[in-house]
Amino acid sequence: MLIFGKVENLLIHRFNSWLLWRRSSVAWTSIHGPWLFSLLKQMREPSIFAPEAETERKRLLQDSSPVAPMDFGAGSQSKSRTIANIAKSALKRPRHARALAALSRHIGAKNVLELGTCLGITTAYLSKEAESVTTLEGNPLLAQQAKVIWERLDIQNIHCITGTFDDSIPNLPSNQYDLIFIDGNHRGEALIRYVHALAPHLSPKGVIACDDIHWSADMEDAWRKLMHEPRWTLKVDFYEWGLLTANSDLASEFFCIRF
Ligand SMILES: C[S@@+](CC[C@H](N)C(=O)[O-])C[C@H]1O[C@@H](n2cnc3c(N)ncnc32)[C@H](O)[C@@H]1O
Repeated sequence: MLIFGKVENLLIHRFNSWLLWRRSSVAWTSIHGPWLFSLLKQMREPSIFAPEAETERKRLLQDSSPVAPMDFGAGSQSKSRTIANIAKSALKRPRHARALAALSRHIGAKNVLELGTCLGITTAYLSKEAESVTTLEGNPLLAQQAKVIWERLDIQNIHCITGTFDDSIPNLPSNQYDLIFIDGNHRGEALIRYVHALAPHLSPKGVIACDDIHWSADMEDAWRKLMHEPRWTLKVDFYEWGLLTANSDLASEFFCIRF
Protein backbone atom coordinates (compact mmCIF):
# COMPACT_ATOMS: atom_id res chain seq x y z
CA MET A 1 0.00 0.00 0.00
CA LEU A 2 1.29 3.46 -0.84
CA ILE A 3 1.50 5.84 2.06
CA PHE A 4 1.55 9.44 0.91
CA GLY A 5 3.30 12.16 2.83
CA LYS A 6 1.93 15.61 3.63
CA VAL A 7 3.32 17.18 0.46
CA GLU A 8 1.93 14.44 -1.82
CA ASN A 9 -1.48 14.73 -0.15
CA LEU A 10 -1.45 18.48 -0.71
CA LEU A 11 -0.58 17.99 -4.37
CA ILE A 12 -3.34 15.41 -4.82
CA HIS A 13 -5.79 17.73 -3.10
CA ARG A 14 -4.81 20.64 -5.37
CA PHE A 15 -5.12 18.54 -8.51
CA ASN A 16 -8.60 17.25 -7.58
CA SER A 17 -9.67 20.65 -6.43
CA TRP A 18 -8.49 22.27 -9.68
CA LEU A 19 -10.40 19.66 -11.73
CA LEU A 20 -13.62 20.39 -9.82
CA TRP A 21 -13.07 24.15 -10.10
CA ARG A 22 -12.32 23.89 -13.82
CA ARG A 23 -15.54 21.95 -14.41
CA SER A 24 -17.67 24.58 -12.72
CA SER A 25 -15.79 27.61 -14.03
CA VAL A 26 -16.92 29.92 -16.81
CA ALA A 27 -14.89 32.10 -19.18
CA TRP A 28 -14.61 35.73 -18.09
CA THR A 29 -16.25 36.84 -21.34
CA SER A 30 -19.50 35.10 -20.40
CA ILE A 31 -20.05 37.38 -17.39
CA HIS A 32 -22.83 39.93 -17.92
CA GLY A 33 -23.08 41.86 -14.65
CA PRO A 34 -21.55 45.31 -15.38
CA TRP A 35 -19.58 45.60 -12.10
CA LEU A 36 -17.92 42.23 -12.51
CA PHE A 37 -17.43 42.45 -16.26
CA SER A 38 -15.76 45.82 -15.93
CA LEU A 39 -13.48 44.43 -13.18
CA LEU A 40 -12.52 41.46 -15.35
CA LYS A 41 -11.75 43.78 -18.27
CA GLN A 42 -9.66 45.97 -15.99
CA MET A 43 -7.76 42.89 -14.78
CA ARG A 44 -6.48 42.41 -18.35
CA GLU A 45 -5.60 46.07 -18.76
CA PRO A 46 -1.92 46.34 -19.77
CA SER A 47 -1.57 49.82 -18.24
CA ILE A 48 -1.84 48.19 -14.79
CA PHE A 49 1.72 47.04 -14.63
CA ALA A 50 4.61 48.03 -12.39
CA PRO A 51 7.80 47.56 -14.45
CA GLU A 52 9.94 49.04 -11.67
CA ALA A 53 8.54 46.47 -9.18
CA GLU A 54 9.25 43.73 -11.72
CA THR A 55 12.88 44.90 -11.93
CA GLU A 56 13.05 44.53 -8.14
CA ARG A 57 11.49 41.07 -8.39
CA LYS A 58 14.22 40.01 -10.85
CA ARG A 59 16.87 41.29 -8.46
CA LEU A 60 15.30 39.38 -5.53
CA LEU A 61 15.25 36.19 -7.59
CA GLN A 62 19.07 36.41 -7.80
CA ASP A 63 19.60 37.16 -4.11
CA SER A 64 21.04 34.20 -2.20
CA SER A 65 21.16 35.94 1.21
CA PRO A 66 19.78 33.62 3.91
CA VAL A 67 16.60 34.48 5.79
CA ALA A 68 15.88 32.93 9.18
CA PRO A 69 12.61 30.98 8.84
CA MET A 70 9.67 32.00 11.02
CA ASP A 71 6.65 29.75 11.18
CA PHE A 72 3.35 31.54 11.73
CA GLY A 73 1.11 28.74 10.60
CA ALA A 74 0.76 26.74 7.41
CA GLY A 75 3.41 28.38 5.29
CA SER A 76 5.54 26.82 2.59
CA GLN A 77 6.59 23.21 2.97
CA SER A 78 10.11 24.15 1.88
CA LYS A 79 12.79 24.51 4.53
CA SER A 80 15.25 26.29 2.22
CA ARG A 81 15.19 29.97 2.96
CA THR A 82 17.01 32.49 0.89
CA ILE A 83 15.59 35.72 -0.45
CA ALA A 84 15.55 34.09 -3.89
CA ASN A 85 13.58 31.04 -2.62
CA ILE A 86 11.06 33.30 -0.94
CA ALA A 87 10.75 35.54 -3.99
CA LYS A 88 10.12 32.48 -6.13
CA SER A 89 7.64 30.68 -3.89
CA ALA A 90 5.78 33.30 -1.84
CA LEU A 91 5.28 36.39 -4.00
CA LYS A 92 2.21 36.70 -6.18
CA ARG A 93 3.08 36.33 -9.83
CA PRO A 94 2.93 39.54 -11.95
CA ARG A 95 -0.45 38.59 -13.44
CA HIS A 96 -1.90 38.05 -9.99
CA ALA A 97 -0.41 41.26 -8.55
CA ARG A 98 -1.82 43.12 -11.54
CA ALA A 99 -5.28 41.63 -10.98
CA LEU A 100 -5.26 42.86 -7.38
CA ALA A 101 -4.11 46.32 -8.44
CA ALA A 102 -6.91 46.31 -11.05
CA LEU A 103 -9.39 45.41 -8.33
CA SER A 104 -8.13 48.33 -6.26
CA ARG A 105 -8.50 50.69 -9.23
CA HIS A 106 -11.94 49.30 -10.09
CA ILE A 107 -13.38 50.00 -6.66
CA GLY A 108 -11.55 53.35 -6.40
CA ALA A 109 -9.85 52.17 -3.21
CA LYS A 110 -8.53 54.84 -0.88
CA ASN A 111 -7.26 52.60 1.89
CA VAL A 112 -5.95 49.11 1.24
CA LEU A 113 -4.93 46.57 3.86
CA GLU A 114 -2.64 43.62 3.08
CA LEU A 115 -1.99 40.73 5.47
CA GLY A 116 1.41 39.29 4.48
CA THR A 117 3.87 41.85 3.09
CA CYS A 118 6.72 39.42 2.46
CA LEU A 119 9.16 41.26 0.17
CA GLY A 120 6.61 43.93 -0.68
CA ILE A 121 6.24 43.41 -4.42
CA THR A 122 2.44 43.05 -4.45
CA THR A 123 2.30 45.93 -1.96
CA ALA A 124 4.18 48.05 -4.51
CA TYR A 125 1.55 47.22 -7.16
CA LEU A 126 -1.28 48.08 -4.76
CA SER A 127 0.35 51.36 -3.75
CA LYS A 128 -0.04 52.62 -7.33
CA GLU A 129 -3.80 52.14 -7.21
CA ALA A 130 -4.67 53.43 -3.74
CA GLU A 131 -4.09 56.49 -1.58
CA SER A 132 -2.56 54.43 1.17
CA VAL A 133 -1.64 50.82 1.82
CA THR A 134 -1.23 49.34 5.28
CA THR A 135 0.58 46.02 5.21
CA LEU A 136 1.24 43.56 8.04
CA GLU A 137 4.29 41.29 8.26
CA GLY A 138 5.46 39.04 11.08
CA ASN A 139 9.03 38.51 9.92
CA PRO A 140 11.03 41.70 10.69
CA LEU A 141 13.77 40.75 8.24
CA LEU A 142 11.31 40.53 5.35
CA ALA A 143 9.59 43.76 6.42
CA GLN A 144 13.00 45.47 6.40
CA GLN A 145 13.83 44.15 2.92
CA ALA A 146 10.44 45.34 1.67
CA LYS A 147 11.03 48.83 3.09
CA VAL A 148 14.37 49.06 1.27
CA ILE A 149 12.61 48.16 -1.99
CA TRP A 150 9.85 50.79 -1.52
CA GLU A 151 12.50 53.40 -0.73
CA ARG A 152 14.35 52.53 -3.93
CA LEU A 153 11.06 52.81 -5.84
CA ASP A 154 10.32 56.11 -4.10
CA ILE A 155 6.96 54.82 -2.81
CA GLN A 156 5.69 56.83 0.12
CA ASN A 157 2.14 55.68 0.72
CA ILE A 158 2.88 52.31 2.33
CA HIS A 159 2.72 51.83 6.08
CA CYS A 160 4.20 48.51 7.21
CA ILE A 161 3.37 47.12 10.64
CA THR A 162 5.69 44.41 11.94
CA GLY A 163 4.16 41.78 14.22
CA THR A 164 1.80 38.84 14.05
CA PHE A 165 -1.56 39.44 12.39
CA ASP A 166 -3.30 38.64 15.67
CA ASP A 167 -1.30 41.33 17.49
CA SER A 168 -1.58 43.92 14.70
CA ILE A 169 -5.26 43.65 13.69
CA PRO A 170 -6.67 45.10 16.94
CA ASN A 171 -4.38 48.16 16.51
CA LEU A 172 -5.03 48.97 12.85
CA PRO A 173 -4.60 52.66 12.01
CA SER A 174 -7.85 53.00 10.01
CA ASN A 175 -11.40 51.87 10.63
CA GLN A 176 -12.30 51.53 6.99
CA TYR A 177 -10.55 49.68 4.20
CA ASP A 178 -11.87 49.44 0.67
CA LEU A 179 -9.74 46.44 -0.21
CA ILE A 180 -8.40 43.87 2.23
CA PHE A 181 -6.00 41.28 0.81
CA ILE A 182 -5.39 38.27 3.07
CA ASP A 183 -2.21 36.50 2.02
CA GLY A 184 -0.53 34.80 4.96
CA ASN A 185 -1.02 32.02 7.50
CA HIS A 186 -2.88 29.68 5.19
CA ARG A 187 -4.89 27.75 7.73
CA GLY A 188 -8.66 27.54 7.45
CA GLU A 189 -9.33 28.50 11.05
CA ALA A 190 -7.04 31.55 10.70
CA LEU A 191 -8.65 32.66 7.41
CA ILE A 192 -12.12 32.63 8.98
CA ARG A 193 -10.82 34.42 12.08
CA TYR A 194 -9.15 37.18 10.00
CA VAL A 195 -12.20 37.68 7.77
CA HIS A 196 -14.46 37.96 10.80
CA ALA A 197 -12.09 40.31 12.61
CA LEU A 198 -11.68 42.49 9.51
CA ALA A 199 -15.27 42.55 8.21
CA PRO A 200 -16.16 45.47 10.52
CA HIS A 201 -13.20 47.39 8.98
CA LEU A 202 -14.48 46.91 5.43
CA SER A 203 -16.12 49.92 3.75
CA PRO A 204 -19.73 49.25 2.60
CA LYS A 205 -18.68 48.66 -1.02
CA GLY A 206 -15.31 47.18 -0.09
CA VAL A 207 -13.87 43.83 -1.13
CA ILE A 208 -11.96 41.14 0.74
CA ALA A 209 -9.57 39.14 -1.45
CA CYS A 210 -8.50 35.81 0.07
CA ASP A 211 -5.44 34.15 -1.37
CA ASP A 212 -4.76 30.43 -1.82
CA ILE A 213 -8.34 29.39 -1.14
CA HIS A 214 -7.73 25.92 -2.62
CA TRP A 215 -4.23 25.53 -1.18
CA SER A 216 -5.33 22.73 1.19
CA ALA A 217 -8.57 20.93 2.05
CA ASP A 218 -8.67 22.98 5.22
CA MET A 219 -8.41 26.32 3.36
CA GLU A 220 -11.02 25.20 0.83
CA ASP A 221 -13.37 24.27 3.63
CA ALA A 222 -12.91 27.68 5.24
CA TRP A 223 -13.53 29.44 1.91
CA ARG A 224 -16.77 27.46 1.43
CA LYS A 225 -17.95 28.37 4.93
CA LEU A 226 -17.20 32.05 4.30
CA MET A 227 -18.94 32.01 0.93
CA HIS A 228 -22.12 30.71 2.51
CA GLU A 229 -22.32 33.53 5.02
CA PRO A 230 -25.39 35.63 4.17
CA ARG A 231 -23.57 38.96 4.65
CA TRP A 232 -21.70 38.56 1.32
CA THR A 233 -23.44 39.44 -1.91
CA LEU A 234 -21.00 38.73 -4.74
CA LYS A 235 -18.52 35.87 -4.29
CA VAL A 236 -15.96 35.03 -6.97
CA ASP A 237 -13.51 32.13 -7.12
CA PHE A 238 -10.54 32.65 -9.46
CA TYR A 239 -9.00 29.43 -8.14
CA GLU A 240 -5.78 31.06 -6.91
CA TRP A 241 -7.78 33.59 -4.95
CA GLY A 242 -11.33 34.55 -4.21
CA LEU A 243 -13.21 37.72 -3.51
CA LEU A 244 -16.06 38.52 -1.16
CA THR A 245 -18.04 41.72 -1.01
CA ALA A 246 -21.06 42.86 0.96
CA ASN A 247 -21.76 45.62 -1.61
CA SER A 248 -25.57 45.85 -1.55
CA ASP A 249 -25.70 47.25 -5.11
CA LEU A 250 -24.66 43.82 -6.36
CA ALA A 251 -26.81 40.72 -6.75
CA SER A 252 -26.16 37.80 -4.45
CA GLU A 253 -24.24 35.53 -6.84
CA PHE A 254 -21.32 33.16 -6.97
CA PHE A 255 -19.02 32.52 -9.93
CA CYS A 256 -15.93 30.45 -10.61
CA ILE A 257 -14.17 32.43 -13.35
CA ARG A 258 -11.27 31.63 -15.68
CA PHE A 259 -9.55 34.81 -16.69
C1 LIG B 1 2.61 34.52 0.82
S1 LIG B 1 3.59 35.67 1.65
C2 LIG B 1 2.93 37.22 1.15
C3 LIG B 1 3.27 37.58 -0.27
C4 LIG B 1 2.94 39.01 -0.63
N1 LIG B 1 1.57 39.35 -0.34
C5 LIG B 1 3.20 39.22 -2.12
O1 LIG B 1 2.39 38.78 -2.93
O2 LIG B 1 4.20 39.84 -2.47
C6 LIG B 1 2.96 35.55 3.29
C7 LIG B 1 3.69 36.41 4.31
O3 LIG B 1 2.90 36.46 5.49
C8 LIG B 1 3.73 36.39 6.64
N2 LIG B 1 2.91 35.76 7.68
C9 LIG B 1 2.34 34.53 7.64
N3 LIG B 1 1.61 34.31 8.74
C10 LIG B 1 1.72 35.43 9.52
C11 LIG B 1 1.17 35.81 10.77
N4 LIG B 1 0.37 35.01 11.46
N5 LIG B 1 1.48 37.04 11.25
C12 LIG B 1 2.29 37.87 10.54
N6 LIG B 1 2.83 37.56 9.34
C13 LIG B 1 2.55 36.35 8.83
C14 LIG B 1 4.93 35.55 6.21
O4 LIG B 1 6.07 35.89 6.96
C15 LIG B 1 5.05 35.89 4.72
O5 LIG B 1 6.01 36.88 4.51
